Amino acid sequence: MIRVLLVDDQALIRAGFRALIDAEDDLTVVGEAANGADGVALAARYLPDVALVDIQMPVLDGIEATRRIVADPRLASVRVVILTNYGIDEHVYDGLRAGAAGFLVKDTEPVDLLQGLSNTIAVLQSKARHKAAAIAVHAPPGLPRVFGFSGELNQIWANLIDNALDALEEGGRIEVTASREGPKVAVRIIDNGPGIPDKVRDRIFDPFFTTKPQGLGTGLGLSVVDGIMKSHGGAVTVESRRGVGTVFKLYFPATENRGASVSAEKPAPAHAQGQRLLYVDDDAALVRLVVRKLTRLGYTVTGVEDPEQALELLKQDPAAFDAVVSDLSMPRMPGFELGRRILELRPSMPIVITSGFVRPEDEERARELGVRAFILKPQTIDELGNALNRIFSEG
Ligand SMILES: Nc1ncnc2c1ncn2[C@@H]1O[C@H](COP(=O)(O)OP(=O)(O)OP(=O)(O)O)[C@@H](O)[C@H]1O
Ligand SMILES: [Mg+2]
Repeated sequence: MIRVLLVDDQALIRAGFRALIDAEDDLTVVGEAANGADGVALAARYLPDVALVDIQMPVLDGIEATRRIVADPRLASVRVVILTNYGIDEHVYDGLRAGAAGFLVKDTEPVDLLQGLSNTIAVLQSKARHKAAAIAVHAPPGLPRVFGFSGELNQIWANLIDNALDALEEGGRIEVTASREGPKVAVRIIDNGPGIPDKVRDRIFDPFFTTKPQGLGTGLGLSVVDGIMKSHGGAVTVESRRGVGTVFKLYFPATENRGASVSAEKPAPAHAQGQRLLYVDDDAALVRLVVRKLTRLGYTVTGVEDPEQALELLKQDPAAFDAVVSDLSMPRMPGFELGRRILELRPSMPIVITSGFVRPEDEERARELGVRAFILKPQTIDELGNALNRIFSEG
């Protein structure tokens, strides 16, 4: 395992490298620092195999940080690789003179997926018109950007939409939706074409697999999509029903930097008036943290680690709490099971399920439980606060 320390003042750059490194089996990120001084300190603490060090940073620039790492005999095993925006220039030589083992050009960038999608769709419009097909895009404002190569990402849209257009009957429809799902950005490309037979579906990502007549398809489109998704730390899956259509789902790691419109998002309305919350999570440290933060927001919070204990409290007094917040994945009793049992005790209890990552089947499960107050996936205390606010203001 090659252990990597990321030192860059831009969180976006760190997130991008982290996504790329996480996608490799033999590489792992041991730490991140946002300036040279912290970078040197973390290098001493973690003794990484490689420190990726940005040239220009506040507090201590990358050249000086490199000098200090190289000069410290205890850090002799740490190889410094300089990150640069500019390709080879005098700064890179400075870095190499300071003792860096090499350099890496940061040519990935935070990409606005919607921009690329609409450009690609514009190019494919004449083919769509030919088939009287419609292409629509739906996305919320403030979609986080994705770290990567915009040209490669556009290749994904082109290949998938082109395939859908080929598959569609006259007058068919393609919907593209983009949304934030926990730490990911999800894009779905949905068509109402004939669907993909099971036998074919197993092979569509294979290179050179095509069902198109000779000369019309190379069979490379989807294998290229798969490769690009992997290199971006993401994944692609497909679901298809005969006669109904096909959905290609793509998941990308989101950069921390959201689209510009997020800052315009409504601030959380004024907060709680002592409503009583039961917070359930198998992670004791998280329980302590969340209880503290929710209490600060003005709630009266009881935290428990054991879902059975949560049920016990509610059996004793089903009216003891105004809402329950539970983690989704808990080893002894999943959040949905807990939710179901709570609703048996008190059908009107508002329940918020939190989860780091929501799979489509989770959303379905939540819908099945059929309770309006099930809210999935708040990621931060603020989001959780907003969800609770919504619940209590709806009454
Ligand atoms: N949206 C879709 N609906 C139905 N079938 C699809 C859809 N997308 C892909 N396929 C099937 O997957 C196969 C493989 O697709 P892929 O893009 O890899 O190659 P291709 O489209 O056949 O050739 P190329 O993309 O190189 O022109 C297609 O031949 C088709 O049978
Ligand atoms: Mg294709």
